[in-house]
Amino acid sequence: FKERIVSMTNFKADDETVSMGDKRCKVYSLVDVDCAALPSLIRPYTNIEVNNTDMPVDLLAAIDNIPNAETVVYNQIVFLPNQKRELALLDKKKNRHASIPNPSNQMAVEDIKRVQEVIARESKQLVYTHFNLIVAVPADTDLQKCTNHLENAFGRMGIHISKRAYNQLELFVNSFPGNCYGMSAEYDRFLTLGDAAACLMYKEKIQHSEDTPLKIYYTDRQGVPVAIDITGKEGKHKLTDNSNFFCLGPSGSGKSFHMNSVVRQLHEHGTDVVIVDTGNSYEGLCEYLGGKYISYTEEKPITMNPFNITKAELNIEKIDFLKNLILLIWKGSDSKISELEFRIIEQIVTDYYDAYFHGFKGYDPLQRETLRKTLTAAEKRKGTWSVEEMATLGKKIDAKIKLLEERRKALAVASLSFNTFYEYSCERLELICLENNITEIDYDKYAYMIQPFYKGGNYDKILNENVDTTLFSETFIVFEVDAIKENKKLFPIVTLIIMDVFLQKMRLKKKRKVLVIEEAWKAIASPLMAEYIKFMYKTARKFWASVGVVTQEIQDIIGSEIVKEAIINNSDVVMLLAQSKIKERFDNIKAILGLTETDCKKIFTINRLENKEGRSFFREVFIRRGTTSEVYGVEEPRECYMTYTTERAEKEALKLYKAELKCSHQEATEAYCRDWKRSGIEKSLPFAQMVNKAGKVLNLKEKQ
Ligand SMILES: Nc1ncnc2c1ncn2[C@@H]1O[C@H](COP(=O)(O)OP(=O)(O)O)[C@@H](O)[C@H]1O
Ligand SMILES: [Mg+2]
Repeated sequence: FKERIVSMTNFKADDETVSMGDKRCKVYSLVDVDCAALPSLIRPYTNIEVNNTDMPVDLLAAIDNIPNAETVVYNQIVFLPNQKRELALLDKKKNRHASIPNPSNQMAVEDIKRVQEVIARESKQLVYTHFNLIVAVPADTDLQKCTNHLENAFGRMGIHISKRAYNQLELFVNSFPGNCYGMSAEYDRFLTLGDAAACLMYKEKIQHSEDTPLKIYYTDRQGVPVAIDITGKEGKHKLTDNSNFFCLGPSGSGKSFHMNSVVRQLHEHGTDVVIVDTGNSYEGLCEYLGGKYISYTEEKPITMNPFNITKAELNIEKIDFLKNLILLIWKGSDSKISELEFRIIEQIVTDYYDAYFHGFKGYDPLQRETLRKTLTAAEKRKGTWSVEEMATLGKKIDAKIKLLEERRKALAVASLSFNTFYEYSCERLELICLENNITEIDYDKYAYMIQPFYKGGNYDKILNENVDTTLFSETFIVFEVDAIKENKKLFPIVTLIIMDVFLQKMRLKKKRKVLVIEEAWKAIASPLMAEYIKFMYKTARKFWASVGVVTQEIQDIIGSEIVKEAIINNSDVVMLLAQSKIKERFDNIKAILGLTETDCKKIFTINRLENKEGRSFFREVFIRRGTTSEVYGVEEPRECYMTYTTERAEKEALKLYKAELKCSHQEATEAYCRDWKRSGIEKSLPFAQMVNKAGKVLNLKEKQ
């Protein structure tokens, strides 16, 4: 029924077929009542083999791809008779069989008894069914191929399609909607249970786009576009609690390509996008969207001044963030931090702001009293005391307190930056240790370790110069941090401050926001940062934001229990690209992500179905939102392909066009794809190599 108007002209029916103009139809009745060749057990599905594993498909899936067929109509008719009457008839039939005691009648009796039992026990329903397939082929085409295909496909399931469908016209006409009572009760209706009838119905469905304002386009497995709400939150049916995501796949499997496609569409839906990348995978897209591309280099580091905040912005989270930052600089990302160190840094940060916002005017009476007690107790522990010495102790302590107080008063904070924090904290750390008789902190070492970020140090700009405030109005930002990937000290710190920029953005902006962290997140995946990550993930939910990490190895995430908990448990959206063949590995992934058997079957079919014909090159991705999961195709036109590709030669070829034509990304891509098409080369890489070899814009002429 490809044409809107269907006319049945030149209608001609014979024993074998029904012809209409340039079409020929054959009606295949599924069940041959004469031999009742249905299997004794029937399931709603059957297994096919994909990628060496079984994959369940609908029992009737074979009717999807009948060779030569132009149109296929599957008529599924279920009659619901009066149950009482049917049961009485069944009883009668049983008695009839029982009256002639020979083996085959005995078997029939047993059969009927079993059915009666099931009906009684499980209150099943008796139904009459009729199923037939009307297959239309062009008039000059042989129907034998269709017949063979159907006989084979159904034969495999133990169903023999009817050989005596000589009543073609009758079947055809009775299949019209509303006409089913014309089906002969004698030979075209088959008595069975409701469940069995349901198994024979066609249960595959065509995926439809979701009812959501946030439409992200993929294709279904046949290449038909479908839109889904990737966050799982904004559609009519809420699938997730949080929209944080987690994308996993081996190198080259298409993670970045897929993310490019997703963030482009999110951006088009008015989302603010921030990406931290380590492989220039978002360069093309950033240029196309006119976003801000910030590459980290030694000469031009990413700067920010996380200390510079207003009184109103000072809260527990901010203090926590700064505490983590200082600990990260002081102790590195891998070391274990003691409770004492946590506490001291927290106190220094609190005191630092207190000194800046209020100034220190002296201990209050309560502080003084506590201090006196602590210091006296410490002195006393030092040795035995004579009466005279005891008398002078009070004075000695008072003098000490005065000294400490003077030192602290002298500690002023004039402005907020890492530089002033450095000065304040070195002195304050010593004072805190003295006030509290703490001896195990090495404050010289502290000063030495954090020095690189102080005036004159190697990284003195990073934490002292205000962040470029235009970043807050940018809607698409890529931080490219490949240059410091190997720098164990700097990498985590830079990643952390970028995340903080995002956090600030999260609070400031009312729109949807998304942060994508490619491999860089590993830098902060330490126990020290776990709390911070967890906090960020949870906060994202409240501020209409999503945070996603993209990674090759699940091991990176599960390596640390805390990180695993922070990231996996707080990501309701999981994206998996084709997984490596190592079964053992996959079992691990399965367990960690809590994938079901059905999920796994779907995952094994990624890129493996025979669905490539007539489509451009694509890859598939498995997406689970909450408990809903499906495999989708990422099938992009050439222009998008050239924007997303991470293939070096391809990127270079496009850059060549851009440089020579001195034009926008859009125009260069158009020119490039025009030449690509005209070259007649199907694949992307060989064409890119041709461009690179020529070293210039090809400007190909249209082939005549
Ligand atoms: N959906 C897709 N359609 C077409 N090509 C793709 C697709 N996904 C990946 N590719 C190809 O594979 C290459 C590598 O993909 P990429 O996303 O960089 O892998 P990963 O980030 O997983 O290492 C891309 O440059 C592109 O050529
Ligand atoms: Mg990548």
